Amino acid sequence: MELTLEGKRALVTGSSSGIGRGIALRLAGEGATVIVHGRNADRSRGVADEITAAGGDAEVVTGDLTSAAETDALLDQVIAAGGADILINNAGGRAGGFSPEPVWETSADRWLATYQLNVLSAVAVTQRLVPGMLERGWGRVIHVASAVALHQPPAFADYQGAKAAEINFARSLARGLGGSGVTANSISVGIIATPDSESELQRAAATLGASDWRDVEKELATTVFRQQVPRIGRPDDIAWAVAYLASPRADFVTGTNIVIDAGI
Ligand SMILES: NC(=O)c1ccc[n+]([C@@H]2O[C@H](COP(=O)([O-])OP(=O)(O)OC[C@H]3O[C@@H](n4cnc5c(N)ncnc54)[C@H](OP(=O)(O)O)[C@@H]3O)[C@@H](O)[C@H]2O)c1
Repeated sequence: MELTLEGKRALVTGSSSGIGRGIALRLAGEGATVIVHGRNADRSRGVADEITAAGGDAEVVTGDLTSAAETDALLDQVIAAGGADILINNAGGRAGGFSPEPVWETSADRWLATYQLNVLSAVAVTQRLVPGMLERGWGRVIHVASAVALHQPPAFADYQGAKAAEINFARSLARGLGGSGVTANSISVGIIATPDSESELQRAAATLGASDWRDVEKELATTVFRQQVPRIGRPDDIAWAVAYLASPRADFVTGTNIVIDAGI
Protein backbone atom coordinates (compact mmCIF):
# COMPACT_ATOMS: atom_id res chain seq x y z
CA MET A 1 0.00 0.00 0.00
CA GLU A 2 1.38 3.41 -0.98
CA LEU A 3 0.93 5.74 2.01
CA THR A 4 1.84 8.87 0.02
CA LEU A 5 3.46 10.82 2.84
CA GLU A 6 5.80 12.70 0.49
CA GLY A 7 5.64 16.45 1.11
CA LYS A 8 4.24 16.02 4.64
CA ARG A 9 6.10 17.23 7.71
CA ALA A 10 5.73 15.06 10.83
CA LEU A 11 6.70 15.91 14.41
CA VAL A 12 7.11 12.77 16.53
CA THR A 13 7.53 13.73 20.19
CA GLY A 14 9.82 11.40 22.13
CA SER A 15 11.36 9.91 18.99
CA SER A 16 14.92 9.74 20.30
CA SER A 17 14.12 6.25 21.61
CA GLY A 18 11.70 3.31 21.69
CA ILE A 19 8.29 3.45 20.00
CA GLY A 20 8.77 7.06 18.89
CA ARG A 21 12.02 6.16 17.15
CA GLY A 22 10.22 3.30 15.37
CA ILE A 23 7.46 5.68 14.26
CA ALA A 24 9.98 8.28 13.06
CA LEU A 25 11.87 5.72 10.97
CA ARG A 26 8.63 4.35 9.49
CA LEU A 27 7.14 7.77 8.60
CA ALA A 28 10.43 8.80 7.01
CA GLY A 29 10.53 5.52 5.10
CA GLU A 30 7.09 6.39 3.72
CA GLY A 31 8.33 9.76 2.46
CA ALA A 32 7.55 12.25 5.26
CA THR A 33 10.07 14.80 6.50
CA VAL A 34 10.36 13.84 10.16
CA ILE A 35 11.12 16.21 13.00
CA VAL A 36 12.82 14.02 15.59
CA HIS A 37 12.37 15.13 19.20
CA GLY A 38 13.74 14.13 22.58
CA ARG A 39 15.35 15.67 25.63
CA ASN A 40 18.68 14.13 24.79
CA ALA A 41 20.29 15.93 21.84
CA ASP A 42 22.77 13.17 20.95
CA ARG A 43 20.13 10.43 20.89
CA SER A 44 17.76 12.65 18.86
CA ARG A 45 20.52 13.49 16.38
CA GLY A 46 21.37 9.78 16.17
CA VAL A 47 17.83 8.92 15.01
CA ALA A 48 17.86 11.80 12.51
CA ASP A 49 21.16 10.46 11.18
CA GLU A 50 19.62 6.98 10.78
CA ILE A 51 16.84 8.56 8.71
CA THR A 52 19.15 10.53 6.45
CA ALA A 53 21.50 7.55 6.04
CA ALA A 54 18.50 5.60 4.70
CA GLY A 55 17.77 8.39 2.18
CA GLY A 56 15.05 10.21 4.20
CA ASP A 57 14.67 13.79 5.44
CA ALA A 58 14.94 14.67 9.12
CA GLU A 59 15.20 17.68 11.42
CA VAL A 60 15.83 17.72 15.15
CA VAL A 61 14.31 19.67 18.05
CA THR A 62 15.04 19.07 21.71
CA GLY A 63 13.40 20.03 24.97
CA ASP A 64 11.59 18.80 28.05
CA LEU A 65 7.84 18.80 27.38
CA THR A 66 7.07 19.15 31.09
CA SER A 67 8.66 22.63 30.92
CA ALA A 68 6.42 25.29 29.35
CA ALA A 69 9.44 27.41 28.36
CA GLU A 70 11.25 24.53 26.65
CA THR A 71 8.04 23.39 24.93
CA ASP A 72 7.39 26.90 23.60
CA ALA A 73 10.96 27.24 22.37
CA LEU A 74 10.98 23.96 20.46
CA LEU A 75 7.55 24.66 18.96
CA ASP A 76 8.74 28.12 17.83
CA GLN A 77 11.49 26.26 15.97
CA VAL A 78 9.06 23.76 14.41
CA ILE A 79 6.65 26.51 13.30
CA ALA A 80 9.45 28.69 11.90
CA ALA A 81 10.62 25.74 9.81
CA GLY A 82 7.14 25.21 8.30
CA GLY A 83 5.03 23.66 11.09
CA ALA A 84 3.84 20.07 11.03
CA ASP A 85 1.09 18.37 9.01
CA ILE A 86 1.32 15.29 11.20
CA LEU A 87 1.72 15.37 14.98
CA ILE A 88 2.45 12.17 16.87
CA ASN A 89 2.02 12.79 20.59
CA ASN A 90 4.22 9.92 21.71
CA ALA A 91 6.45 11.26 24.51
CA GLY A 92 5.29 9.89 27.82
CA GLY A 93 5.62 7.19 30.39
CA ARG A 94 5.21 7.07 34.14
CA ALA A 95 6.79 9.92 36.08
CA GLY A 96 9.49 8.36 38.26
CA GLY A 97 9.34 5.00 36.45
CA PHE A 98 7.31 1.82 36.81
CA SER A 99 8.02 0.99 40.45
CA PRO A 100 5.27 -1.40 41.57
CA GLU A 101 4.15 0.29 44.81
CA PRO A 102 0.60 -0.43 46.07
CA VAL A 103 -1.89 1.70 44.17
CA TRP A 104 -3.04 3.58 47.29
CA GLU A 105 0.51 4.74 47.98
CA THR A 106 1.03 6.69 44.76
CA SER A 107 1.47 10.31 45.84
CA ALA A 108 -0.58 13.21 44.54
CA ASP A 109 2.65 14.76 43.24
CA ARG A 110 3.28 11.67 41.15
CA TRP A 111 -0.29 11.66 39.82
CA LEU A 112 0.21 15.26 38.74
CA ALA A 113 3.65 14.64 37.23
CA THR A 114 2.41 11.65 35.21
CA TYR A 115 -0.58 13.67 33.98
CA GLN A 116 1.71 16.55 33.02
CA LEU A 117 4.12 14.25 31.16
CA ASN A 118 1.47 12.40 29.13
CA VAL A 119 -1.56 14.66 28.84
CA LEU A 120 -0.76 18.34 29.38
CA SER A 121 2.41 18.14 27.29
CA ALA A 122 0.40 16.68 24.40
CA VAL A 123 -2.30 19.33 24.87
CA ALA A 124 0.30 22.12 24.70
CA VAL A 125 1.94 20.77 21.53
CA THR A 126 -1.43 20.14 19.88
CA GLN A 127 -2.66 23.66 20.66
CA ARG A 128 0.32 25.23 18.92
CA LEU A 129 0.34 23.01 15.81
CA VAL A 130 -3.35 22.52 15.01
CA PRO A 131 -3.94 26.12 13.81
CA GLY A 132 -1.40 25.59 11.00
CA MET A 133 -3.11 22.31 10.04
CA LEU A 134 -6.46 24.12 9.94
CA GLU A 135 -5.02 26.84 7.70
CA ARG A 136 -3.72 24.19 5.31
CA GLY A 137 -7.01 22.22 5.49
CA TRP A 138 -5.28 18.92 6.26
CA GLY A 139 -3.67 17.40 9.32
CA ARG A 140 -3.25 14.42 11.60
CA VAL A 141 -2.99 14.26 15.39
CA ILE A 142 -2.22 10.81 16.77
CA HIS A 143 -1.77 9.98 20.44
CA VAL A 144 0.29 7.02 21.59
CA ALA A 145 -1.89 5.89 24.50
CA SER A 146 -1.83 2.53 26.27
CA ALA A 147 -3.88 -0.63 26.53
CA VAL A 148 -3.66 -0.28 30.32
CA ALA A 149 -6.20 2.52 29.94
CA LEU A 150 -8.67 -0.22 28.95
CA HIS A 151 -7.71 -3.26 31.04
CA GLN A 152 -6.33 -2.53 34.43
CA PRO A 153 -3.25 -4.17 35.91
CA PRO A 154 -3.22 -3.80 39.71
CA ALA A 155 -0.76 -0.88 39.81
CA PHE A 156 0.19 2.40 38.09
CA ALA A 157 -3.30 3.96 38.41
CA ASP A 158 -1.79 7.42 37.74
CA TYR A 159 -0.41 6.17 34.42
CA GLN A 160 -3.64 4.36 33.48
CA GLY A 161 -5.64 7.51 34.20
CA ALA A 162 -3.34 9.69 32.13
CA LYS A 163 -3.42 7.31 29.16
CA ALA A 164 -7.25 7.16 29.37
CA ALA A 165 -7.30 10.98 29.33
CA GLU A 166 -5.21 10.95 26.14
CA ILE A 167 -7.79 8.71 24.45
CA ASN A 168 -10.55 11.07 25.57
CA PHE A 169 -8.62 14.10 24.38
CA ALA A 170 -8.21 12.55 20.94
CA ARG A 171 -11.98 11.92 20.76
CA SER A 172 -12.82 15.46 21.85
CA LEU A 173 -10.35 16.86 19.34
CA ALA A 174 -11.88 14.79 16.54
CA ARG A 175 -15.30 16.30 17.31
CA GLY A 176 -13.92 19.81 17.54
CA LEU A 177 -12.05 19.41 14.26
CA GLY A 178 -14.98 17.82 12.40
CA GLY A 179 -15.16 18.80 8.73
CA SER A 180 -11.78 20.55 8.75
CA GLY A 181 -9.63 17.88 7.07
CA VAL A 182 -7.74 17.43 10.34
CA THR A 183 -8.32 14.10 12.08
CA ALA A 184 -7.45 12.97 15.61
CA ASN A 185 -7.04 9.39 16.81
CA SER A 186 -5.24 7.35 19.43
CA ILE A 187 -3.54 3.99 19.59
CA SER A 188 -3.71 1.87 22.72
CA VAL A 189 -0.38 0.16 22.82
CA GLY A 190 0.26 -3.19 24.51
CA ILE A 191 3.64 -4.40 25.76
CA ILE A 192 6.43 -3.25 23.50
CA ALA A 193 10.13 -3.83 24.18
CA THR A 194 11.70 -0.38 24.70
CA PRO A 195 14.11 1.17 27.22
CA ASP A 196 11.08 2.29 29.25
CA SER A 197 9.49 -1.18 29.50
CA GLU A 198 12.77 -3.03 30.15
CA SER A 199 12.47 -3.01 33.95
CA GLU A 200 8.88 -4.29 33.82
CA LEU A 201 9.84 -7.05 31.39
CA GLN A 202 12.73 -8.10 33.63
CA ARG A 203 10.50 -8.08 36.72
CA ALA A 204 7.97 -10.26 34.91
CA ALA A 205 10.73 -12.61 33.69
CA ALA A 206 11.94 -13.03 37.27
CA THR A 207 8.53 -14.52 38.18
CA LEU A 208 9.38 -17.27 35.67
CA GLY A 209 12.84 -17.74 37.20
CA ALA A 210 14.65 -16.09 34.28
CA SER A 211 17.25 -13.32 34.52
CA ASP A 212 16.61 -12.07 30.97
CA TRP A 213 13.11 -11.73 29.52
CA ARG A 214 14.41 -12.61 26.06
CA ASP A 215 15.08 -16.18 27.29
CA VAL A 216 11.40 -16.69 28.21
CA GLU A 217 9.74 -14.36 25.69
CA LYS A 218 7.09 -16.80 24.49
CA GLU A 219 6.03 -17.92 27.98
CA LEU A 220 6.08 -14.31 29.20
CA ALA A 221 3.82 -13.18 26.38
CA THR A 222 1.26 -15.98 26.70
CA THR A 223 1.16 -16.91 30.39
CA VAL A 224 2.20 -13.76 32.27
CA PHE A 225 0.76 -11.10 29.95
CA ARG A 226 -2.00 -13.37 28.55
CA GLN A 227 -1.43 -12.32 24.95
CA GLN A 228 -2.77 -14.29 21.99
CA VAL A 229 0.43 -13.67 20.01
CA PRO A 230 3.40 -15.50 21.56
CA ARG A 231 6.03 -12.76 21.49
CA ILE A 232 6.65 -9.34 23.01
CA GLY A 233 5.85 -6.42 20.70
CA ARG A 234 8.42 -4.30 18.92
CA PRO A 235 8.16 -0.59 17.98
CA ASP A 236 7.39 -1.40 14.34
CA ASP A 237 4.23 -3.26 15.45
CA ILE A 238 2.91 0.18 16.41
CA ALA A 239 4.67 2.25 13.75
CA TRP A 240 2.82 0.63 10.84
CA ALA A 241 -0.56 1.53 12.31
CA VAL A 242 0.59 5.08 13.02
CA ALA A 243 1.84 5.43 9.44
CA TYR A 244 -1.56 4.34 8.14
CA LEU A 245 -3.47 6.76 10.42
CA ALA A 246 -1.07 9.54 9.43
CA SER A 247 -1.63 8.99 5.73
CA PRO A 248 -4.28 10.33 3.36
CA ARG A 249 -5.50 6.69 3.18
CA ALA A 250 -7.07 7.25 6.61
CA ASP A 251 -9.17 10.30 5.65
CA PHE A 252 -12.31 8.47 6.89
CA VAL A 253 -10.85 7.56 10.29
CA THR A 254 -11.24 10.04 13.14
CA GLY A 255 -12.15 9.93 16.83
CA THR A 256 -11.18 6.31 17.12
CA ASN A 257 -8.84 4.33 19.34
CA ILE A 258 -7.02 1.40 17.78
CA VAL A 259 -5.93 -1.28 20.25
CA ILE A 260 -2.67 -3.05 19.35
CA ASP A 261 -1.93 -5.35 22.26
CA ALA A 262 -1.71 -8.89 20.83
CA GLY A 263 -5.21 -9.63 22.10
CA ILE A 264 -4.55 -9.36 25.85
N1 LIG B 1 6.80 0.39 25.86
C1 LIG B 1 5.58 -0.01 26.14
O1 LIG B 1 5.35 -1.20 26.44
C2 LIG B 1 4.44 0.97 26.08
C3 LIG B 1 3.14 0.46 26.29
C4 LIG B 1 2.06 1.33 26.22
C5 LIG B 1 2.26 2.68 25.95
N2 LIG B 1 3.53 3.17 25.78
C6 LIG B 1 3.69 4.61 25.50
O2 LIG B 1 4.53 4.77 24.38
C7 LIG B 1 5.20 6.02 24.47
C8 LIG B 1 6.69 5.80 24.24
O3 LIG B 1 7.19 4.94 25.25
P1 LIG B 1 8.53 4.08 25.06
O4 LIG B 1 8.31 2.80 25.77
O5 LIG B 1 8.95 4.09 23.66
O6 LIG B 1 9.53 4.94 25.98
P2 LIG B 1 11.10 5.29 25.84
O7 LIG B 1 11.82 4.29 25.01
O8 LIG B 1 11.55 5.54 27.23
O9 LIG B 1 11.07 6.67 25.03
C9 LIG B 1 10.46 7.78 25.61
C10 LIG B 1 10.70 8.96 24.70
O10 LIG B 1 10.02 10.08 25.25
C11 LIG B 1 10.96 11.11 25.50
N3 LIG B 1 10.60 11.80 26.73
C12 LIG B 1 10.40 11.22 27.94
N4 LIG B 1 10.10 12.18 28.84
C13 LIG B 1 10.11 13.36 28.17
C14 LIG B 1 9.90 14.69 28.54
N5 LIG B 1 9.62 15.06 29.80
N6 LIG B 1 10.00 15.66 27.60
C15 LIG B 1 10.30 15.33 26.33
N7 LIG B 1 10.52 14.08 25.92
C16 LIG B 1 10.43 13.11 26.83
C17 LIG B 1 12.31 10.43 25.59
O11 LIG B 1 13.31 11.38 25.24
P3 LIG B 1 14.85 11.30 25.81
O12 LIG B 1 15.20 9.84 25.91
O13 LIG B 1 15.63 12.03 24.78
O14 LIG B 1 14.83 11.96 27.11
C18 LIG B 1 12.16 9.33 24.57
O15 LIG B 1 12.39 9.81 23.28
C19 LIG B 1 4.86 6.59 25.84
O16 LIG B 1 3.82 7.55 25.72
C20 LIG B 1 4.36 5.38 26.62
O17 LIG B 1 3.45 5.75 27.64
C21 LIG B 1 4.62 2.34 25.85
